[in-house]
Amino acid sequence: MTLDDRTCVVTGASRGIGRAIAEDLGAHGANVVVNYRTSESEAYEVADAVEEAGGSALPVQADVAVEDDVASMAERTTEAFGDAEVLVNNAGMTIDKKFENMTREDWDRVIEVNLGGVFNCTKAYFEDIKHADHGRLINISSVVGQQGNYGQANYATTKSGLFGFTRTLALELATSGSTANCVSPGFVETDMLETVPERVQEKILRRIPLDRFATPQDIAGIVRFVASEDSSYMTGQILAANGGMEW
Ligand SMILES: NC(=O)c1ccc[n+]([C@@H]2O[C@H](COP(=O)([O-])OP(=O)(O)OC[C@H]3O[C@@H](n4cnc5c(N)ncnc54)[C@H](OP(=O)(O)O)[C@@H]3O)[C@@H](O)[C@H]2O)c1
Repeated sequence: MTLDDRTCVVTGASRGIGRAIAEDLGAHGANVVVNYRTSESEAYEVADAVEEAGGSALPVQADVAVEDDVASMAERTTEAFGDAEVLVNNAGMTIDKKFENMTREDWDRVIEVNLGGVFNCTKAYFEDIKHADHGRLINISSVVGQQGNYGQANYATTKSGLFGFTRTLALELATSGSTANCVSPGFVETDMLETVPERVQEKILRRIPLDRFATPQDIAGIVRFVASEDSSYMTGQILAANGGMEW
């Protein structure tokens, strides 16, 4: 499963799952755009790791929710590596509150980043992916989009929204031979999970048949498969990596 010289854009690649994806794609020969919003030094560390592993990397600051930021990230991608072949829409955020305490602002911000960011990035790279050999749109959803989760009405809505988006883009890309799929992780050991209180983490763990949280690398291996030519006949799918939780 080589990705030699494939240009892969990974949003939110400075930490957590995005970081593991960027490093893994780079270690398999890809040119990786390492997008970040605020964690500059971490993003440069990721880029160094990619280069040390034999890939090429370009760290790019862009808030995925800001159209102009994304447009300039796309320009820089083309200047450095040519057209993108793979876009991994990974950047995401949470503002967790019970619905009765959730404000319209909490709702809008999460939608703006988790869905608005996906719109902006997909729009900016759509023509590249459509015309690429084996173009790939990969959206990182969540088991929470499948099951719902207490205190995450805004977040769960965005993650469910990605299913309809992915399925539609799969249909619209199909005649070009490019694909669109979702990878839907369960609960993964990252800063995002750290924000969940320990007693809630313990409750979640009891629902996971494999009896552990995922590592970011567990998810990165699946993304690498989807990014590679080996997944060519799979489109519009949800690849669930959740340790055997229902769904
Ligand atoms: N952790 C889990 O249990 C879990 C489970 C299922 C799905 N997911 C999904 O997997 C993805 C990554 O989650 P994670 O746990 O790795 O999160 P994380 O550790 O909180 O890292 C989030 C990453 O997204 C970036 N980011 C956030 N807002 C951004 C924006 N507006 N523009 C650009 N980048 C932005 C952050 O960059 P900066 O640090 O530079 O701000 C960071 O690199 C998310 O879509 C999340 O919903 C996570």
